[in-house]
Amino acid sequence: MTKALDGVRILDFTHVQSGPTCTQLLAWFGADVIKVERAGTGDVTREQLRDIPNVDSLYFTMLNHNKRSITLDTKSAPGKQILEKLVKSCDVLVENFAPGALDRMGFTWERIQKLNPRMIVASIKGFGPGPYEECKVYENVAQCAGGSASTTGFDDGPPLVTGAQIGDSGTGLHLALGIVAALYQRNSTGRGQRVLAAMQDGVLNLCRVKLRDQQRLARDGVMHEYPQYPHGRFGDAVPRAANASGGGQPGSIVKCKGWQNDPNAYLYFIAQAPVWKQICQVIGKEEWITHPDYATPNARLPRLDDVFATVEAWTLTKTKFEAMELLNEHDIPCGPILSMKELAEEPSLRNTGTIVEVDHPTRGKYLTVGNPIKMSDSATDVTRSPLLGEHTDEILAEVGYGVQDIAAFRAQKVI
Ligand code: COA
Repeated sequence: MTKALDGVRILDFTHVQSGPTCTQLLAWFGADVIKVERAGTGDVTREQLRDIPNVDSLYFTMLNHNKRSITLDTKSAPGKQILEKLVKSCDVLVENFAPGALDRMGFTWERIQKLNPRMIVASIKGFGPGPYEECKVYENVAQCAGGSASTTGFDDGPPLVTGAQIGDSGTGLHLALGIVAALYQRNSTGRGQRVLAAMQDGVLNLCRVKLRDQQRLARDGVMHEYPQYPHGRFGDAVPRAANASGGGQPGSIVKCKGWQNDPNAYLYFIAQAPVWKQICQVIGKEEWITHPDYATPNARLPRLDDVFATVEAWTLTKTKFEAMELLNEHDIPCGPILSMKELAEEPSLRNTGTIVEVDHPTRGKYLTVGNPIKMSDSATDVTRSPLLGEHTDEILAEVGYGVQDIAAFRAQKVI
């Protein structure tokens, strides 16, 4: 079966999480991804958070499937020559070095364009042009600088970072889209271009609704769906909204049966207006259907604490799965709080390839998240991550080096 990006060659200079997420997706769409790593060490994540001594970590394996690995000292003269050949033979160069590292290696945008005018050079940086552009950035820095942390958490607590890696993996997703769009544009222009995804910008994009709220707050001084209304106070910046729903429908997390012993025995419950009657019937509050204090969304707003406490009195008598089943019979939107253990064991996610078991020569079998994007004519087969330098010889042969050249590079410690 063909794949969407068959024939696209990616020179992958990414490391840690943000860039590898991007190139892994491109590999899943069929691109040939050549990961360039330093001999001896490779991507720093190979040895970070290791659970088995001397074996590539899950951090590395879960971000680098379907790639090939070549080791290369790109700062040595022979290494630079090899890199030139690779630049000429690839369609896209992806990197997430600290600012300026590619230039310092001698591969400026101008030089790359001369070597290969069709090449797309795609970068992830912490910040775009501006006061912080020279800074090194990691996940939580991006979450804080992109507006996520200031709007996550409880009103009386500090800012919180989220478990979803919106700074790293989120920006990797943004970059992948930019690369695919640039490849499409190249079909008509014949030219490559530079693609930049800054982590601050990516996080802010994902926090778009909070910038919406900033402007609503500036105009009205209050936002009715926030937990601060009507009893708390609003300042001049969007406050942390706890578990309130980001949309126009009030929502909250309520306890379910067994919460005393299970930290995830909770359910997200949305008090959606069109199903208010059904909600009242299910939780045994039929009088609220017509009661003037509860019958309309506006009347309910100042009483949401009471509404959710009553919903919780009902959910406490059910497990989160029982509650979910009963509520869905009435189209009442809700979601169980699923632990990673529950997700890992969920058969439907295995069936769709969203969770995949992969075999690795030194690690053995492990679970990973497969391609979350499903395409009817470009199926994803998740194959294991490469060992460090596993494909060095074959890649060098592809760009014209013979066995003796390769042996000489190895003796000189270039590869
Ligand atoms: N051969 C020789 N040198 C190599 C090499 C190779 N194959 N691969 C990398 N290097 C060199 C680089 O050229 C650079 O050298 P220089 O600083 O002398 O120019 C050096 O290794 C280190 O690269 P750098 O990217 O600065 O790594 P770091 O560990 O210092 O910083 C980050 C890590 C993630 C903070 C930084 O890369 C960064 O800010 N990236 C952009 C934002 C980002 O993606 N952050 C999220 C990461 S999940």
